[in-house]
Amino acid sequence: MMPTRTMQAVRLHEHGGPEVLRYEEVPVPEPGPGEVLIRVHAAGINPPDWYLREGMTNLPPETRPKFSFPVIPGTDVSGVVEAVAADVDGFSAGDEVFGLLRFPSFEGSAYAEYVAARASDLARKPAHVDHVHAAGVPMAGLTAWQFLVELGHDHPSPFQAARHRHVELGADTTVLVNGAAGGVGHFAVQLAKWKGARVIAVASGAHESFLRELGVDQFIDYTKERPEELVRDLDLVVDTVGGQASGRFLRTLKRGGALYPVFFGEYDEEEIARLGVTLSGTQVRSSGAQLAELGRLLDAGTLRVAIDSTFPLADAQAAHERAARGHIQGKIVLTAV
Ligand SMILES: NC(=O)c1ccc[n+]([C@@H]2O[C@H](COP(=O)([O-])OP(=O)(O)OC[C@H]3O[C@@H](n4cnc5c(N)ncnc54)[C@H](OP(=O)(O)O)[C@@H]3O)[C@@H](O)[C@H]2O)c1
Repeated sequence: MMPTRTMQAVRLHEHGGPEVLRYEEVPVPEPGPGEVLIRVHAAGINPPDWYLREGMTNLPPETRPKFSFPVIPGTDVSGVVEAVAADVDGFSAGDEVFGLLRFPSFEGSAYAEYVAARASDLARKPAHVDHVHAAGVPMAGLTAWQFLVELGHDHPSPFQAARHRHVELGADTTVLVNGAAGGVGHFAVQLAKWKGARVIAVASGAHESFLRELGVDQFIDYTKERPEELVRDLDLVVDTVGGQASGRFLRTLKRGGALYPVFFGEYDEEEIARLGVTLSGTQVRSSGAQLAELGRLLDAGTLRVAIDSTFPLADAQAAHERAARGHIQGKIVLTAV
């Protein structure tokens, strides 16, 4: 029998704080049908990674994934194809690829030196973007894309029965992005600008110059001012923050306007009806095809990805500690080579 090839990976054996992320030796995965084996160069980190670590207590029970320990967290990778299953067309060994893996199953297993990935979740890495930056794109970029540009699938969302409704964005629309400097927020800002909209960014003051460079037309520092007292008649609010205070954005919308809760918020149905506005959202899903479209925008320089910080894969604990401190600007990325 051939000895099992091993690799280093980060695994969870239990829920808890960053200290439960264990860097250890595990078998290299075997790609199944429709899959490729990727040598991971970089893995982006996202909120679901720490939700999984913490036991998903902040998610409604019906949206919590089923899994068994030990589990390798992580969904976002950029790397090089090492091997492909016999039935895979379109990718071959040596190709540079990036992807959001198997989401929303939470079986991405990206915090590792190698990962087996469905070919349909992958796209060619944009040539002018390095692995660290490419690894920052998949979940956050696809979330912004699926909320703002095109849903791209017909899977029902666990968050709402109706299909997500897009607001047509253009020169005569104004979009407010709350949490504008974060992973999803900074892509939402750029996609709205790309569509020609006027963009208002809400973030803490330290992010102002970053967001102005991304083209925002108005900046509101939520630590000093209340956006709901400053703006009116908006076409769209993209709220990446959510929580108890999220309903205050409803009154900033014009009749016919929409609010997209990217994370769970609390909203008064009566107020929504009285104001004549819509609430609409979705859950991001893996899509190699949409990632290829984002890749073209990244290669053209139309879209950029900001890197908050990088940590070696072995220091995933420190990366999660950084995330827990909040105020993230762009993406936190693990490096695996
Ligand atoms: N529906 C979906 O499918 C989907 C997909 C992806 C993500 N999400 C959810 O969306 C949320 C955002 O994800 P992410 O990856 O963008 O997170 P992130 O990178 O951590 O960004 C969060 C941003 O929000 C800002 N922020 C925090 N409190 C704020 C407040 N009170 N007002 C305004 N801004 C505030 C933070 O910086 P400052 O406070 O310094 O401004 C940070 O830049 C997460 O809850 C995630 O679970 C949902």
